[in-house]
Amino acid sequence: MIALRTASDADVDPSGGAHGGVLVSRPGTGRAVVPDPDGAVAALLRLLRTPVAWEPLIEKAAELAPDADPGGLAARVARLLGVGLVVAVCVADDGAEAAEARLTSRLGHYRPGSEPLPGARLRLSRFAAVRRDGDTAVLESPAAACQVILNRPALAALPAALAVPRTPAEALAHCPDPAAADLLQLLVDLGLAAETDAAGGLPEDEAPGHAGRTFRDLWAHGGRAGIAMSPPRAGGPSTAFPPPPALTPADGPVRPLPRPDMARLRRTDPPLAEVMERRRSVRTFGDPPVTAAQVGEVLYRVGRITTRLAADPDTPGSYDRALRPVPGAGALHELEYYVAARRCTGLSPGVYRYDPADHALVTVARDPSALVPLVDHAYRALGSSDVPQVLITLAARFQRLSWKYGEIAHTLALKDTGVVIQSVYLCAEAAGLAACAIGPADTAAFAEATGCDPLDQAPVGGIVLGSRPAP
Ligand SMILES: Cc1cc2nc3c(=O)[nH]c(=O)nc-3n(C[C@H](O)[C@H](O)[C@H](O)COP(=O)(O)O)c2cc1C
Repeated sequence: MIALRTASDADVDPSGGAHGGVLVSRPGTGRAVVPDPDGAVAALLRLLRTPVAWEPLIEKAAELAPDADPGGLAARVARLLGVGLVVAVCVADDGAEAAEARLTSRLGHYRPGSEPLPGARLRLSRFAAVRRDGDTAVLESPAAACQVILNRPALAALPAALAVPRTPAEALAHCPDPAAADLLQLLVDLGLAAETDAAGGLPEDEAPGHAGRTFRDLWAHGGRAGIAMSPPRAGGPSTAFPPPPALTPADGPVRPLPRPDMARLRRTDPPLAEVMERRRSVRTFGDPPVTAAQVGEVLYRVGRITTRLAADPDTPGSYDRALRPVPGAGALHELEYYVAARRCTGLSPGVYRYDPADHALVTVARDPSALVPLVDHAYRALGSSDVPQVLITLAARFQRLSWKYGEIAHTLALKDTGVVIQSVYLCAEAAGLAACAIGPADTAAFAEATGCDPLDQAPVGGIVLGSRPAP
């Protein structure tokens, strides 16, 4: 049987009481009062304390809340599902729950009992994936904005069987679990599987805006579930691991950079309006090349630490933060700036990491051959006949963000990257340098050049700097 019930982590008080509505709370979303003028939500939530199938739920709620518009009851249940207060479960004959489905966004849909036509062939959405979580398997899709927790992991054979179009009977033959038929219905109800056309295509292939969207792209951006599959970390920063340090310790020779004279720059810089209006991506470079002092000036004006804010040991969840000229999510400043210098006056060819506290470069790789794949990648991305003089690669220490922000770490890193790229563009323009952002990143070349494990630090953006060619 497929039934609905309140989510185990939902705290629901249908009594309404002094609040004039239904008081609900879930971890991560806090407490909210759901207005309930006709008593329908309270009636539904009372019924949903134990699993109840869709039709009896609607019928009994109509009896309990006679003032409610019967047509509106389904919409109320859909809303409760959409905000994660209610889940759909496959209940086996012995009462055990074989699977539990929840929507991860209000934009997800649960359409109960969407019967496939006899003989219809079903197929899994190309955006769905199965992963392990604890002892369960989880089937989820950012396109359908839902998760199905398979408490009996062998049920994963069913979505696997739907990699090719199959009739329900054919699909069920691949999954002997007695709950498989209910699960199949649930997959259809949630839009994780759908009827194919004669060529094996799914409605999602034709839907406006879907063409060209790939599995990885949609997963990175959460699809219909928003920028992340779930809200930022509930209940504050992680207690599972300590916050990664604000600064990476220098582990190579340190080369101090000259500090720009900010008092002079305040007087001599072109006005912001002029810099903003004049800025262009410049893909050709001059001779002599950019100097270490010029690269240092850009790094200083964009990325140096101006103020360190130390964690307060007496405040739970407090962490080391820093202020820099650029803003950064949570003042975590997870981005490391790697400087690959190919032709730079005053800087030997090599790969360096910017030390934002001491305004210095830490040598990461002196062997110029480490530079080649990195710079080559940027060179090809520029599509110019000129080879980049200096490439700044921005690498995110994702764990620093995920410690505080959980699942939205990746998207915050990308936003922080955009902030830095534009700031570098503007400072380069003010300094009369050539600059061009680099869209693609070669994670393997970066890992080889820096020795970083991409799960710890991976490139999220880059920008080429150089001297301007003579006009
Ligand atoms: C995130 C981002 C990635 C970019 N990637 C590249 C790139 O890989 N190669 C390139 O030649 N230009 C790249 N650019 C520069 C754009 O092509 C450029 O900004 C656009 O053509 C507009 O020109 P403008 O910068 O002169 O205004 C990138 C720009 C941004 C913001």
